[in-house]
Amino acid sequence: MSIEKIMVIGAGQMGSGIAQVCATAGYTVVLNDQKQEFFDRGLANITKNLSRDVEKGRKTEDEKATILARIQPSLTIEDASDVDIVIEAAVENMEIKQSIFKQLDTIAPAHAILATNTSSLPITELAAVTNRPEKVIGMHFMNPVPVMKLVEVIRGLATADEVYETVRDLSEKLGKTSVEVNDFPGFVANRILLPMINEAIYAVYEGVASVEDVDTVMKLGMNHPMGPLTLADFIGLDTCLSIMEILHEGLGDSKYRPCPLLRKYVAAGWYGKKSGRGFYVYE
Ligand code: CAA
Ligand code: NAD
Repeated sequence: MSIEKIMVIGAGQMGSGIAQVCATAGYTVVLNDQKQEFFDRGLANITKNLSRDVEKGRKTEDEKATILARIQPSLTIEDASDVDIVIEAAVENMEIKQSIFKQLDTIAPAHAILATNTSSLPITELAAVTNRPEKVIGMHFMNPVPVMKLVEVIRGLATADEVYETVRDLSEKLGKTSVEVNDFPGFVANRILLPMINEAIYAVYEGVASVEDVDTVMKLGMNHPMGPLTLADFIGLDTCLSIMEILHEGLGDSKYRPCPLLRKYVAAGWYGKKSGRGFYVYE
């Protein structure tokens, strides 16, 4: 299956990063969001990253302009009508993603692959709302997308081998290393990462140590590039809570219960870096 034109749905921190790596690899990209200001914010993020590459001598101004010219703005899902693959990176919410997949199924060409960048929602459940479950697959990038090398490629129950191979090859063309994963809650990355983050939140909640000291322990004691609470703010506390809920419900083990402090922060609208406040305050 040949891929030339890619639609990315959601121009947030993940969608903009995915659009950037796809355009850098030479693909035509349709970047969709609900409002012009959300698209503009995503494009500004891409422009900032590419400008840094120019400053550091990794790209020329011409290359930056060529990459940006490959990204077409979209405010309607109807723009999926002539793409070869859609990579959905809207918010981590099953109802919203199912509604997007139902619409895509009627709009996208019959050959088009419908991929999702979900952190944890079941691929098989998303596939079930379409009439092409064999063409639905997880393509889970890591944050920040231009920097992190991994893509988890998640096979839903009905995903066709040919679709898996196409997405694996696409990941390689984007300069990533892919890992084949079966569809179970949290896949691999978040099944391992999120319980650690949740436990770090419990350590603060139970007064074991301060936010800064928990982070210092993991940074200097385990050589993690970011402490778990900084990382939680970076991922988004809303996304972290959603993943813990999926693990808890999907695996049915109390060890995955989300920490009450995480729930409280999300209820307060403290989503981390993107909202200006989480475990830390951002100017
Ligand atoms: N977008 C693009 N590039 C970025 C970036 C961003 N948001 N943030 C940093 N970079 C680039 C910088 O430009 C820099 O590149 P150069 O030196 O080549 O110019 C490089 O990354 C290193 O950045 P910094 O020196 O500013 O900072 P750092 O050394 O602390 O690295 C980091 C930043 C790469 C983010 C590092 O802290 C890190 O690896 N953190 C952990 C990230 C992680 O665990 N990600 C996975 C999250 S879980 C997930 O994604 C799955 C999920 O479903 C929730
Ligand atoms: P975000 O909040 O930064 O961006 C989400 C974007 O989707 C917003 O711009 C929003 O306007 C847009 N959106 C919402 N509904 C839409 C719709 N119906 N149509 C088009 N656009 C819509 O979120 P994010 O951190 O980029 O996460 C996006 C997805 O990627 C989630 O499924 C998340 O679980 C997953 N993910 C996140 C991370 C992370 O570290 N944040 C890592 C890997 C995967």
